[in-house]
Amino acid sequence: MKISVVGTGYVGLVTGTCFAETGVTVTCVDIDKDKVQDLRQGIIPIYEPGLEPMVKNNVDKNRLFFTTSLQESLKDTDAVFIAVGTPPDEDGSADLQYVLDVAREVGEHMENYMVVVTKSTVPIGTAEKVRKTLKEALDKRGVNIDFDVASNPEFLKEGDAIDDFLKPDRIVIGTDSAKAEDILSRLYKPFVLNGHPVISMDIPSAELTKYAANSMLATKISFMNDIANLCELVGADVNSVRRGIGSDSRIGNKFIYAGTGYGGSCFPKDVKALINTSDKNNHSLDILKAVESVNERQKTTLVNKLMYHFNNDLKGKKIALWGLSFKPHTDDMREAPALSIIEKLRAEGAEITGYDPVAMEESKRRIGDSIQYARDQYEALVDADALLLVTEWPEFRTPNYNVMKKLMKNHLIMDGRNIYELSEMKNQGFIYYSIGRKAVKPE
Ligand code: UDX
Repeated sequence: MKISVVGTGYVGLVTGTCFAETGVTVTCVDIDKDKVQDLRQGIIPIYEPGLEPMVKNNVDKNRLFFTTSLQESLKDTDAVFIAVGTPPDEDGSADLQYVLDVAREVGEHMENYMVVVTKSTVPIGTAEKVRKTLKEALDKRGVNIDFDVASNPEFLKEGDAIDDFLKPDRIVIGTDSAKAEDILSRLYKPFVLNGHPVISMDIPSAELTKYAANSMLATKISFMNDIANLCELVGADVNSVRRGIGSDSRIGNKFIYAGTGYGGSCFPKDVKALINTSDKNNHSLDILKAVESVNERQKTTLVNKLMYHFNNDLKGKKIALWGLSFKPHTDDMREAPALSIIEKLRAEGAEITGYDPVAMEESKRRIGDSIQYARDQYEALVDADALLLVTEWPEFRTPNYNVMKKLMKNHLIMDGRNIYELSEMKNQGFIYYSIGRKAVKPE
C-alpha cells in the first residue's frame, strides 16, 4: 500500500514513520524545505524517544520519503492523512485554513481514488468541510474522480508516541464508506494483531471521540486536584484517597494523580475547543468549564503555599525550579505549569533559577533570560530559599539530600508532584509541602 502524510509535525511524523515500519510506502509532505532536507538525512525536529533511529531505518530501507510536493506524493496513493497544524483562532476555536488548503490541493491534483483522512485534532464537522473543499476543486477541474473522507483521531502521548502508535489501546475510524473503511482497516491491521480493537463509527462520532477522551482525562485530573485541596483542609492524604478509589475498577487508577495541573499541547486546547463547540450549539458544558478553572488555579498552588510560608513576601527570595517541561520525557513547554509559576514568582519579585534535563533551550526560546539557568539540578539550589519541584523527571526522585542541604539556604521543598515520602522528608529534616498531603516540619 502507499500513503501520503501531510505535515511532519509531531503527529504526522510519528504516523508516517510507524506505517513505514510495517512495510507501507509512505511519503511525508511538508512545506518547510529545510525540515524536509533534514528529515531525508534522518534528522528530526522534535524530541521523541525512539523516533530518530526509526525514521533513519525506514529512509534507508526506501519505505519513507520526504518531499515538499504534495502533488508528487499523490500518485497511486491509497490514503492521504492530513496532519497539519490547527492553531487556535482568537476565540480559541481551531483555525482550519491549513487543513482545507491540503484538501483543495489534493482536489487540484489527484488522479485516482483515495481516502482523505483527518488525523489532526479537528472540530466536529471538519471532515465534511474537507469533502466539500476537495469536491469544489475537482469540479473546477471539470473531472469526476471518486474519493472518500474519514476521521481517524490520534491518541499519542508525548514521550510514548511510538509505543502508543504501535500498541494502541484502540483505533477509532470514522467513515461513511465501506471502501474507505477497508483501506484504513488494512493499514491498521499490523497494530491490532494483539487484540486491540478497531472501533468503526460514523464521522461526527469519531471527531467527538477525541475531544471526549481528552476532556474526560482532564476532568479526572482536575477532580483529583480539587479533592487534594480539600484533603489539605481536612487533614486527609490524597495519595491514600487515590489508592482507595483507584482500586475500584469502575474508576481505575490512571490519571488520578494530583499535581500542579495539566499542561501540554492537547488537554488545555481540547477542553477549550469542546467548551466552544458546545457553546456554539447552545449547550453549556459546565463540567468542563469547572475543569478548566480548577486547572488554572492549580497551576499556581505551589506559589500560594510559598507565599503562605513566607508571610506573603517573596521579594528577593531565591527560588530553585526543578523541571520546566509540562511533563517528563519531553522538551514541550506548551501550557506548562512552570510558565504560570514563573510568571507569578516574578510578579512577586522572586529570583528564579531553573533546571530541566531537556527543556532549557525551549525555555530560553520562550522566556529568554527572565530566569537564570543552572547546569545541573544541584547548581540550581545554591543559596536557595526554596526548591519548587514542578516536573517529575526520574532524576529528581532520589536526589542526594545531604548535598541539597549543604547548598540550600533554607531546607524548604515545595513538591508539585508528590514524589517524596513524608516520612523521608521528616527524617531528612526538610520543611516539606506537597499536594493534598500534610505539610512536614522538622521537630
Ligand atoms: C495527552 C493524551 O494522554 C493523549 O492521549 C492525547 O493524544 C494527547 O494529550 P500528552 O499531552 O502527551 O497526551 O500528556 P499526558 O501524559 O496525557 O499528560 C497530560 C498532562 O496531565 C500532563 O501535564 C501531566 O502532568 C498531567 N497529569 C497526568 C496529571 O496531572 N495527573 C495524572 O494523573 C496524569
